[in-house]
Amino acid sequence: SKSDITNLDDVKRLVDVFYGKVRRDALLSPIFEKAIGDHWDTHLNKMYQFWQTVLLEEHTYYGSPFLPHTKLPIKKEHFQQWLLLFNATLKAEFNGEVAEEASWRAHKMAEMFQLKLQYMEEN
Ligand code: HEM
Repeated sequence: SKSDITNLDDVKRLVDVFYGKVRRDALLSPIFEKAIGDHWDTHLNKMYQFWQTVLLEEHTYYGSPFLPHTKLPIKKEHFQQWLLLFNATLKAEFNGEVAEEASWRAHKMAEMFQLKLQYMEEN
């Protein structure tokens, strides 16, 4: 049966399965393909480090997550779809407290990104 996210291999599986779905998604894939082009290796490695830092408390990510999103054409529907795919991945692959934490963190970050993007539009 399914187990929790406990090591870097688990984090890599989460990220790989999730971005596999993203790249096959009609709404999200055009945005990602345009921004990432042929730098998927770099992006995936960055995302391994990001989730490794958040979920395993092994500090390998030192970026600023929000900034790259300010130049993307993303609205509420995109965030909803992003979260749908992320949660579907978690549910299909894992079961446990860290997987719950991943879902919660993604929701919080999506919420914060949307509030900041909205604020930037108004000012
Ligand atoms: C980077 C798209 C939501 C975390 C990126 C990049 C794209 C992207 C295209 C690469 C930017 C670049 O290299 O120029 C999206 C879209 C989203 C979304 C379309 C939703 C509609 C989220 C959420 C999180 C997140 C909810 C956090 C849970 C990150 C991180 C990076 C990143 C950590 C790397 C930032 C860096 O360069 O250090 N995203 N994203 N994204 N995204 Fe998202």
